[in-house]
Amino acid sequence: MPETVISASILNSDLSDLRGTAAKVDKSGAAWLHFDVMDGEFVENITFGSSVLEAVKPHTHAFLDVHLMVQHPARQLKLFADAGANMITFHVESFCNPKTIIEDIHSLGCKAGVAIKPRTPVVSVRPYIEAADMVLIMTVEPGYGGQGFIHDTLDKIRTVRSIAPDKDIQVDGGINPETAELVRDAGANVLVAGTYLFKSSDMPAAVRELKG
Ligand code: DX5
Ligand code: ZN
Repeated sequence: MPETVISASILNSDLSDLRGTAAKVDKSGAAWLHFDVMDGEFVENITFGSSVLEAVKPHTHAFLDVHLMVQHPARQLKLFADAGANMITFHVESFCNPKTIIEDIHSLGCKAGVAIKPRTPVVSVRPYIEAADMVLIMTVEPGYGGQGFIHDTLDKIRTVRSIAPDKDIQVDGGINPETAELVRDAGANVLVAGTYLFKSSDMPAAVRELKG
């Protein structure tokens, strides 16, 4: 199984100080920075677009991990690739041809992730696992930070890990030291955390706890 990595979600950070957040995350041991892009259609919330990633990029050494929660991911790919994204993840539930989107992300020089919501079965993502670099199994309903972890998702993590022993499997939502242990045991290796990290008074210690 690949190495455990923490991806710090800026969604619930102090959005008036993204430069400060980037510096704090760089020092914390979280190697990835997670950008939750919401369009007000795929989810009701609206967050930020590629210009925000472009503004943060010069202030971090982190691997830039984009989570598109948008209805039309194809429209965003070049914008985020040009802005400096390293990984672009889209939802199979959005309006898209997943196979084409993965190819397009790769041709733009980025890694490609495919995501499923908590109630979407593994069979919906199964045909795309091989071509993708990462599978994101949402552990809360997309839309907001600070929600409770949905335990039913653990079985899906186990299933994807059995299909793809060497692939990055990301989980996103409700991750704290207790749920981190559950998802790691189930086979996840890229753990997104927002609320838990940004509420902690000692982020490096919090990152170590989540890594286990
Ligand atoms: C939810 C987002 C998550 C969220 C995770 O739609 O995709 O990335 O920020 O946040 P916490 O850690 O607060 O559950
Ligand atoms: Zn996310």
